[in-house]
Amino acid sequence: MTSMTPSTSPNSANTGNRNALLSIEQIVKTYRKPNGDQFVVLNGIDMTIGQQEYVSIIGHSGCGKSTLMRIVAGLEKPTSGLVTLEGKAIRKPGAERMMVFQGYALLPWLTVRENIRMAVDEVFKTMSRADKIAIVNEHINMVKLSAAADKYPHELSGGMKQRVGVARALATRPKMLLLD
Ligand SMILES: Nc1ncnc2c1ncn2[C@@H]1O[C@H](COP(=O)(O)OP(=O)(O)OP(=O)(O)O)[C@@H](O)[C@H]1O
Ligand SMILES: [Mg+2]
Repeated sequence: MTSMTPSTSPNSANTGNRNALLSIEQIVKTYRKPNGDQFVVLNGIDMTIGQQEYVSIIGHSGCGKSTLMRIVAGLEKPTSGLVTLEGKAIRKPGAERMMVFQGYALLPWLTVRENIRMAVDEVFKTMSRADKIAIVNEHINMVKLSAAADKYPHELSGGMKQRVGVARALATRPKMLLLD
């Protein structure tokens, strides 16, 4: 939709493309309805996000916020338009853009610790085991989940699950954090 409101942090105003971290240009996303008609979710979205910038996207339920984030995360392709991170086109997921999902997206058969560790293993392939354990512990402590570190997602509250998602995303030290 075009009714989403990007609200930038006060001291970052419009940074222009010079310091752009992320550039969203003319993004259109349509889904096909069961009757074959096109359903337009995003219609010509333009946005530039600078380095060190914090942007909130506000809009009514169903206006396309998660869709836009999934496109930036590389989990979904736009129907047309371009998203670039530091000038490089985004075509697939990457560890420099980590997402905290609205629906948590934790693996139910892994504990809190294992969910975070899996992301760390995936991103830091050559890191020593000791360093990986230290990063996982640091982030479990950061989100105040040390008492629940060996629990499974179904044993956690919604807020705890969300914090596992935050820890998992931050543990891989991304350039950009997408908080849905
Ligand atoms: N895979 C899909 N196929 C068809 N329609 C979809 C699909 N994914 C999302 N939609 C539709 O696109 C619209 C935008 O969905 P989206 O999840 O981006 O909304 P949102 O702004 O994140 O809403 P909320 O605030 O409720 O999380 C909704 O109408 C939704 O039904
Ligand atoms: Mg959403």
